[in-house]
Amino acid sequence: MGTKLIIDTDPGVDDAFAIALAALSEDVDLLGVTTVFGNVPLESTTRNALRVLALCGRPDVPVAAGADRPLVHPQRRRAAHIHGSDGLSGRSAALPEAGREPDPAGAVSLLVSLLEAADEPVTIAPIGPLTNIALLLAAHPRVRDKIARIVVMGGGLGGGNITAVAEFNIWSDPEAARRVLVEENVPCVLVPLNLTLRCAVDSAWLGKLAAAGPIGTALNALTPDYLASYRKVLGWDGIAMHDAVAVAEAISPGILRTESYPVEIDCTLGPGRGATLVDLRPEGARDEGEGDVTPSTIEVAVDTDLDGLRGFVLGRLSRP
Ligand code: BDR
Ligand code: CA
Repeated sequence: MGTKLIIDTDPGVDDAFAIALAALSEDVDLLGVTTVFGNVPLESTTRNALRVLALCGRPDVPVAAGADRPLVHPQRRRAAHIHGSDGLSGRSAALPEAGREPDPAGAVSLLVSLLEAADEPVTIAPIGPLTNIALLLAAHPRVRDKIARIVVMGGGLGGGNITAVAEFNIWSDPEAARRVLVEENVPCVLVPLNLTLRCAVDSAWLGKLAAAGPIGTALNALTPDYLASYRKVLGWDGIAMHDAVAVAEAISPGILRTESYPVEIDCTLGPGRGATLVDLRPEGARDEGEGDVTPSTIEVAVDTDLDGLRGFVLGRLSRP
């Protein structure tokens, strides 16, 4: 039954859209949702994930909470100034109560058991800081073989959003991001800000979502604070649905056009911390790696049919 998927998330308004996109897609086998600190503290991201799944009528999807802080250095800022005090524009209480608790085994245990039980490789979509996924790969290297792709929303080519050079998810735990994107030999797709900002949707798109039915109405109702902050970023009335763009690629491989590049993550403690360094030089013009080692590459999403992508997400979020 379609793509087997696990989402690792820190909801977050765009995370809520991304979870709903997968949860409402009939061709996706959403095996589980794991949560991480990020936009708001772990307790809130976990409650929000449970409520979004309740909204989508998916009490069958297991949820487990993971890391409440980065691997090494504290996260200095959250993103409540973008997503609202509770991560959902202060409107999380308007969503249905989940009526259940997260799996007490925790995120890494849930990831391991879902991967081990899967009869075909599983796609993981981390759309928050990469702490849980770094812990998973560090502690359970045998599960690498069960992972089809890791489709990460993160990074910015030549600029950031939380600092001048760093994107929020990578900046929140650069050591974890480096472990996953640079040090591990697992196929990764990086979906950076450069593309997710180009996929931003306007108030007409949000109006269609709100008119589509009760789920669309409820999702649109989570956007006021997020919309207000994106008005300043975009210069017009709209929102970036960063995480939904990454999940679109996870569930519909190839919807984004990707190119292979070597990537590094700045883990220094200075102003460059959290920057994603994508080596855009043509292959023949790159430095060779140290000694005879050629740097490994990952897929970086560079383009898509923008209106096609917006229509794909709207169509799936509009299902009754
Ligand atoms: C990323 O940061 C978070 O605020 C969003 O949810 C998204 O995952 C965008 O930089
Ligand atoms: Ca997120």
